[in-house]
Amino acid sequence: MTKLITRRSVLAAAGATTALTTLPISMVKLAFGGTRDDFTFTYISDSHIQHIKGSSFVRNWDQGLKRAIAEANLVVPESDFVMFGGDLAQLGKREELDHGAEMLSHLKGKLHTVMGEHDYYLDLGEYWSKLYGPHYYSFDHKGVHFVVLNSIIVSDDWTFHRWPTAEQRMLEMAGLDNPNGSPFMVGLKQREWLRADLEKIGKDTPLLVFSHSPLQKIYKGWNFWTDDAEEVQALLQPFQNVTVIYGHVHQIQYNQIGNISFHSVMATAWPWPYPQSYARAESHIPVLTVPMNRADPFFERDATGWQLIDVNSGRVTARYQLWDNDPRTVAYNAKLGHPTDVSYQEPTQRRVPQFHY
Ligand SMILES: [Fe+2]
Ligand SMILES: [Fe+2]
Repeated sequence: MTKLITRRSVLAAAGATTALTTLPISMVKLAFGGTRDDFTFTYISDSHIQHIKGSSFVRNWDQGLKRAIAEANLVVPESDFVMFGGDLAQLGKREELDHGAEMLSHLKGKLHTVMGEHDYYLDLGEYWSKLYGPHYYSFDHKGVHFVVLNSIIVSDDWTFHRWPTAEQRMLEMAGLDNPNGSPFMVGLKQREWLRADLEKIGKDTPLLVFSHSPLQKIYKGWNFWTDDAEEVQALLQPFQNVTVIYGHVHQIQYNQIGNISFHSVMATAWPWPYPQSYARAESHIPVLTVPMNRADPFFERDATGWQLIDVNSGRVTARYQLWDNDPRTVAYNAKLGHPTDVSYQEPTQRRVPQFHY
C-alpha cells in the first residue's frame, strides 16, 4: 500500500510559524506497492558550519541547519532515519564539526552521514571519523541496500605534496569555484570494496547510493566532477533499480546514465551560483571570484529549498519545494528513458536570467 506524503502533512505538523516557509530538508519515500514495506527518510545536506572565533559561528549557516533539523523532527509520518549529505563544516575545524554535531544530536532517529570535502581536507577526515565512524559503508533497511561512498578523494600528489600546511590545503579546496582544487574521485581501494559489497546482493535488490560529489562528470571548473565516475557507474549498472543521490552542488540537478538515475539534494547554507548580496556583506563568507547569472539576483535563497523524493520500483520522483517560487517536479519519463521536469514553467512565462552588478 503506497502512502502519500504531502507537503501539507509535513507543514501541518510544523505549525503556523513555520508553515509559511519551506525548509531545506529532503524527504525520501520508498514505495513498493505492497511487495515490501514502504518507508521514508529525510535528507539534510551542505550546512557549512563556519567558526569565526571563540564561541562565534556564521549565523546564517547555523540557522539553515537548525531550521532543517526542526522540520525534520516534525515530519509526519516520522521518517525511519536521517541522512546528512556532507559539508557539515566549512573548514573542517573541530569547533565546526563539534558545533554541527551538537545541532545534529537534536535529530530524532538514527543519523547516517556522508563525507564532504569541507569536512575532510584539514585532517583527512580523522576528527569526522571520531564523530561518525567509517568514511564509506553500507547497510540494509527494509529490503533496500544503501551504500555510502567517500567520493571526495583526490590525488596523493595534491593531498600530500602541494601545500605547505593542512590549513592551506583546506582553504584551497574550499574555494567556491575551486580554481586550485583537484578533481574528486572514489579511488581504486573504495571501488574494490564496493565491488565486493555489491556481490552480496541480488541484481533485483533496490540500490541507493549516496555520495557527496556527483558520481558523474558535470563541470570540472566547479568540481562538479568525479574522475572515476565511469568505473563506479560500471559497478552499479547491472542492478535493475539504482539511484544515486548526492549533495555538494547546492542546486537542483538530475540525470540518467544507462540504468542509473541521479538526483541532487539542496543545501541548507547557500545556493549555487552564489548570491552577490552575500559577497557584498562584510562577513566571514567564502570569496566569490566568478560572477554568474541568477534567476533572481535579489533573492539570496533563490534555488534553495527542500524536496520530497518518492522512489517507486527504483524510479525516483522528486518534488522540489522552492522558497518563494513554484514547486518543481522531476520524475522518470519511461518514454524518454530519463528524468524530466513534469511541471516546468511555460517558456513564455519564465523570468529572464539577469546579471547583477
Ligand atoms: Fe557544499
Ligand atoms: Fe562539497
